[in-house]
Amino acid sequence: MSPLDSVLASIPSGHPDEALARQINFERLPAHVAIIMDGNGRWAAQRHLPRVEGHRAGIDAVRDTVETAARLGIDVLTLYAFSLENWKRPAAEVSTLMLLLKRYLRSELQTLLTNNIQFRVIGRMEELAPDIQDELRTAIDRTVKNTGMLFNIALNYGGRAEIVDAARRAIESGVRPQDLDEARFAGFLYTAGQPDPDLLIRTSGEMRVSNYLLWQIAYAEIYVTETLWPDFRRRHLFEAVLAYQKRERRYGGINPVPAVIGAQ
Ligand code: FPP
Repeated sequence: MSPLDSVLASIPSGHPDEALARQINFERLPAHVAIIMDGNGRWAAQRHLPRVEGHRAGIDAVRDTVETAARLGIDVLTLYAFSLENWKRPAAEVSTLMLLLKRYLRSELQTLLTNNIQFRVIGRMEELAPDIQDELRTAIDRTVKNTGMLFNIALNYGGRAEIVDAARRAIESGVRPQDLDEARFAGFLYTAGQPDPDLLIRTSGEMRVSNYLLWQIAYAEIYVTETLWPDFRRRHLFEAVLAYQKRERRYGGINPVPAVIGAQ
């Protein structure tokens, strides 16, 4: 099935999302889409609900986005679920986030397998609670042979910490300083071997990169939507991809480079 057919198969005929899907140029998809899922707290506040209800509702957006990205034929999707700084939140919020993650992995593992999605974690996974690590490890191991979309969850993640970790690994590897260049260094990052994000989406309107994939987003196109994460659905991903396809990417040169090609 072509990616367009796969996308259309998930949309009821005549639904407005169908017209949007048909506008997408499948030859010029971003290879890697990274998302900062922001606005869960505001979503909950608007409804006079506790913040954690926003995170709970955010899980539906995660499900929808993973499925849509896989159907579109996106190679890599990276979602920012928990930053190193998020430990500063109230303990009850942190433990709910971890519980939601655990539940998500349990309930969605079969969907990941059915859709040939490979699951990975980027971040300091070894600092998470043992039960969370076990759950993550199960999902990673069970999907390791999948050849479809790579789905990274950034967990206990910080962009600067990643660069520090990469520097440590480079030193430990014994690479000679004169042999270290950008390509070689990228091989020590958590995302080694993956294309850099072409498109960085941030929900809920803030114009910040929040210590996310600092090395990898050097040339990413940034798309900010006012939509709060729990409301983010298939349509919003289509809109972001369409906006990306209208951009001219120049990589510091003066001539436009078609989106996607030469994204490194
Ligand atoms: C930002 O909203 C969101 C987070 C810190 C957590 C995102 C986590 C999830 C959607 C659930 C778990 C994820 C997966 C992948 C299963 P915020 O709380 O900062 O919102 P605010 O800025 O409106 O307060």
